[in-house]
Amino acid sequence: MNDAGIERVAVVGTGVIGMSWAALFLAKGLSVRATDPSPGAEARLRAAVAQHWPALERIGLAPGAAPERLHFSADLDDALEGAQFVQENGPEREDFKRELFARIDARLPPVVVIASSSSGLVMSRVQTSCAHPERVVLGHPFNPPHLIPLVEVIGGERTSAQTIERAMAFYRAIGKRPIHGRKELKGHIANRLQAALWREAMHLVAIGAASVADVDDAIAYGPGLRWAACGPFANLHLSGGDGGIAHVLDHLGGPIESWWDDLGTPRMTDDLKRRIAEGMREALASRSSDALAEHRDAVVLGLLALRDDAHGAN
Ligand SMILES: NC(=O)c1ccc[n+]([C@@H]2O[C@H](COP(=O)([O-])OP(=O)(O)OC[C@H]3O[C@@H](n4cnc5c(N)ncnc54)[C@H](O)[C@@H]3O)[C@@H](O)[C@H]2O)c1
Repeated sequence: MNDAGIERVAVVGTGVIGMSWAALFLAKGLSVRATDPSPGAEARLRAAVAQHWPALERIGLAPGAAPERLHFSADLDDALEGAQFVQENGPEREDFKRELFARIDARLPPVVVIASSSSGLVMSRVQTSCAHPERVVLGHPFNPPHLIPLVEVIGGERTSAQTIERAMAFYRAIGKRPIHGRKELKGHIANRLQAALWREAMHLVAIGAASVADVDDAIAYGPGLRWAACGPFANLHLSGGDGGIAHVLDHLGGPIESWWDDLGTPRMTDDLKRRIAEGMREALASRSSDALAEHRDAVVLGLLALRDDAHGAN
């Protein structure tokens, strides 16, 4: 059993995100009961678990971890049987999730946390359909959850502090890196940061300052490497020598503000979308998207292994 004392997890909705969560939970030695009403869902889920397993083996399986500990049922009530934690990954529609959460809430004792993977919905609104809204929380992963450690934990207005703590403890216990978002905002935390970067990346292409391939290289071979190690603030701190971040903010604060004033606010015009898609085709040349995804996952796995080796440094 892990530190959070949770052995049995229900995965509700086994599309792209649910399949990846299920594989991760199994690799962490948990029993998983999964549900999805779509025809062929069980076969797709089992195939995805088998496909993700080699990467999870490389990261390290927990004692007792086995794909055979997956039980699938198209019936929600059956899948919830005995669940100690629920990870919900159904379609991203508020009315749909409200109804689904009401059904899950009615079925499980109030002590069980119900976490939603939702990328954009506000738990304050979803939880209103539940008799026990205090156990409803956002547990937003980054795709693919079986590889990327980040989970954004954000409560709604009626979520209890204890639920936040229990969700954080559970994710931590299975090797995730949960962060606690203290406000319900569009895009939560990490997608807002990505959106800030995409805005300028697209602006640079729109004004012809750089090609799509060069913008990608500017991040992947530049700050992206450092950000993977320790994030934008810690990197600024390291830029400040003995004076650290306080010195950098004094010294570079003015110039940084003047760059902010110069940043673009592009619009997604058809012309811009076409130019970006064309730039991506050129950047890929003869490489397939599958090959690119394989490359990305291999680099991410390598970075995760390095991070484990350097454990304690960050
Ligand atoms: N795709 C991403 O990159 C990403 C990243 C983070 C979070 N999310 C969030 O994860 C959730 C799932 O997204 P996805 O990309 O996996 O979508 P998806 O469309 O791949 O999967 C949704 C699944 O829900 C199933 N479903 C429909 N009705 C259901 C029901 N009554 N009970 C259980 N399952 C049901 C569908 O059959 C489908 O398999 C969304 O809330 C989304 O915002 C997605």
